[in-house]
Amino acid sequence: MTESKIKKIGVLTSGGDAPGMNAAIRAVVRTALSRNIKVFGIKHGYNGLINNDIQEMHLRSVSEIIHRGGTVLYTARSPEFITLQGQQTAAAHCREHGIQAVVVIGGDGSFRGAKDLSAQEVPCICIPGTIDNDIACTDYTIGYDTAMNTAVEMIDKLRDTTQSHERCSVVEVMGRNAGYIAVNTGLATGALVTLVPEKPFDVDKDIVDKMKFTRKIGKKHFIIIVAEGAGDSSALAKEIEEKTGIESRATVLGHVQRGGAPSLRDRVAASRLGYHAIDLLTQGITDRVIGFKSDDFVDYDIVEALAMHKEMDFSLLDISSTLSV
Ligand code: ADP
Ligand code: F6P
Repeated sequence: MTESKIKKIGVLTSGGDAPGMNAAIRAVVRTALSRNIKVFGIKHGYNGLINNDIQEMHLRSVSEIIHRGGTVLYTARSPEFITLQGQQTAAAHCREHGIQAVVVIGGDGSFRGAKDLSAQEVPCICIPGTIDNDIACTDYTIGYDTAMNTAVEMIDKLRDTTQSHERCSVVEVMGRNAGYIAVNTGLATGALVTLVPEKPFDVDKDIVDKMKFTRKIGKKHFIIIVAEGAGDSSALAKEIEEKTGIESRATVLGHVQRGGAPSLRDRVAASRLGYHAIDLLTQGITDRVIGFKSDDFVDYDIVEALAMHKEMDFSLLDISSTLSV
């Protein structure tokens, strides 16, 4: 194996946390150390670079974290880092520690930050970590599977009480700009209707008429899944009750979806991505977003990756709709 020219790197988690971020940190740290690269943990996302909250990590710094949700490096949204002054301060602190490259684990906002940091001559490698799975250049983002499994577990519990009371449950899942969690949980929980920000809907035609029709053919309770960004779940439950006469309740699953032990899929994805990030750095390859296409690694220039667009596969909604009658 060629000896890496990069001898010191930093690693940070940024934006919304996601289960599996810890497994990714562990993979970055241990792979780097195996290649004689020193690793510095940067706390609280880009804030840690600005505030010089940076500590060297060792093999045992990442013990007992592969199975834990959250991120031991903490995460943050850093308004200061969006300014040029913040980026210059961050880069100066990297130089002070001799950090030659930074591994950024986060979503597309965090990757915009990485692009700006690399413009300050601190190259970066980006690992997709967000429950939303809304990074265009990869099929998969760390945290997505765990979040969906958590949502399904919660909705199964709701189904019991919805069924006993013969009600309608309007369940809001996370996804301000993306409906990937919603479409899959909708299909997996037998939701009558799933609403996503990517597709406009009509309450009367898409929900009320379908509820009335399915009630006529024997359906007694109803689950409607709403992605956070698709509409107000409380207002929708009220409207449904008024228009159908069926007692309706809204439940917002919220941040529970971001926590908990990562699933096998997330631990494996995170470990592979962390390992691959260091593989690229060792070869002198930087300023890339890495990910998976058909389970193989891919990597794209950060600017190119940020310009890509992910199309939602609406066929899952069609399947859901056919099966839920
Ligand atoms: P995510 O990475 O999960 O999409 P955010 O969009 O909140 O989360 O971004 C996380 C952080 O990345 C921001 O708080 C900010 O510090 C940094 N960031 C986001 N957008 C930019 C930008 N355009 N320029 C520089 N930094 C950015
Ligand atoms: O990006 C992940 C995510 O959980 C989105 O699904 C959600 O819209 C947003 O973060 C919530 O962010 P906050 O932590 O600011 O409530």
